[in-house]
Amino acid sequence: MNILVTGGAGYIGSHTLVELLAAGHGAVCVDDLSNSSEEAVILAGKIAGKDIPFYKADIRDRSALDKIFTENHIDCVIHFAGFKAVGESMIKPWEYYENNLMGTLTLTDVMRRHGCKRLIFSSTSTVYGDPEILPIREDAPKGNCANAYARTKWFQEEILRDLCGADLRNGDPDPWGIVILRYFNPIGAHPSGLIGEDPRGIPNGLMPYITQVAVGRLEKLTVFGSDYDTPDGTGIRDYIHVCDLASGHVAVLSALKAGSVIDYNLGTGRGYTVLEIVRAFEAANGIEIPYVFGPRRPGDIAAYWSDPSKIDHELGWKAEKGLEDMCRDSWNWQKKNPKGYGR
Ligand code: NAD
Ligand code: UD1
Repeated sequence: MNILVTGGAGYIGSHTLVELLAAGHGAVCVDDLSNSSEEAVILAGKIAGKDIPFYKADIRDRSALDKIFTENHIDCVIHFAGFKAVGESMIKPWEYYENNLMGTLTLTDVMRRHGCKRLIFSSTSTVYGDPEILPIREDAPKGNCANAYARTKWFQEEILRDLCGADLRNGDPDPWGIVILRYFNPIGAHPSGLIGEDPRGIPNGLMPYITQVAVGRLEKLTVFGSDYDTPDGTGIRDYIHVCDLASGHVAVLSALKAGSVIDYNLGTGRGYTVLEIVRAFEAANGIEIPYVFGPRRPGDIAAYWSDPSKIDHELGWKAEKGLEDMCRDSWNWQKKNPKGYGR
């Protein structure tokens, strides 16, 4: 397949480009570089031994997207482009709604006008809100979101279901075929150390914050909340290696079927507290991470992790790497690139 990857210069997108090319697919990348560097796309191509056509464009720019679909035959789109930080979305909700919703609306409109109706969408485990039952299955209640970012993802999921539903109601001979992937918490980096997570400014995510403390760019970690109802009082998440997450996208290409919207969790099924992550990082890399406790972060949920069995049963895919791999590869990337892509 020839696949357009939106947000392909980003953390998950760049790792997915490598996996797609390794599996024999073609890839074209579009990214406005608002949270990334073109270097990531060049290096992903280097790892895979192939050049990746790159368009620097905002996916809300209809004419720029039209040009991409005119110049390339696209079979399918993997849609990563968007803003992703839980805490930031509580400070800048308008920017999150505008970028994430308008991006998806513009993209899907241009896609259907060019006869391309196969889409893999990056959603998030945060659409499950504060779960009543753990681990979280795909049929758990959704939409009661704790933050604006998660709500943008939930609304986008609903838009995509409506598009496919309308095609079926209208008897469209080529209805949408969509896979929604709900990621738990990707960390780690490609084992080569050539690509990894390089957020602009102060990191919002836990692992890039830890690696920037380790490399001396930041002084100490603040652990957000020490009074959650968890074994050590800190938040629990299901961390998954980004290369596993990327390979999950290749696995679901076979699940894209006209007239269906299928959802899968991408996680490992195991939760770790913030302090367990700090200790695992220290043990894997022999580096001490100084930390202090701070207040809870607005929009955060105490604890959640996935039931990842649906994708395993249906497609035979599951995450393979463990926490030690995640911690080692995160540090390998940061120490080889102390300033990220700025080196
Ligand atoms: P990222 O910020 O590294 O990548 C997103 C990319 O999209 C960036 O390169 C950014 O420049 C680009 N982008 C943003 N708005 C754009 C626009 N309007 N037009 C073109 N490009 C645009 O984030 P990531 O961690 O790689 O996440 C990828 C996707 O997965 C996002 O949609 C995110 O919400 C979702 N997701 C991420 C996580 C996570 O923990 N990283 C978890 C669940 C879901
Ligand atoms: C992350 C993603 C979000 C995704 C979600 C899926 C980012 C920025 N956010 O959110 O897009 O939808 O996973 O589950 O990639 N923490 C600290 N100190 C810090 C940073 C974080 O204690 O400096 C704690 C948080 O309170 C939380 C845990 O670490 O308990 C993980 O936080 P983070 O890495 O930001 O991920 P999520 O908020 O889960």
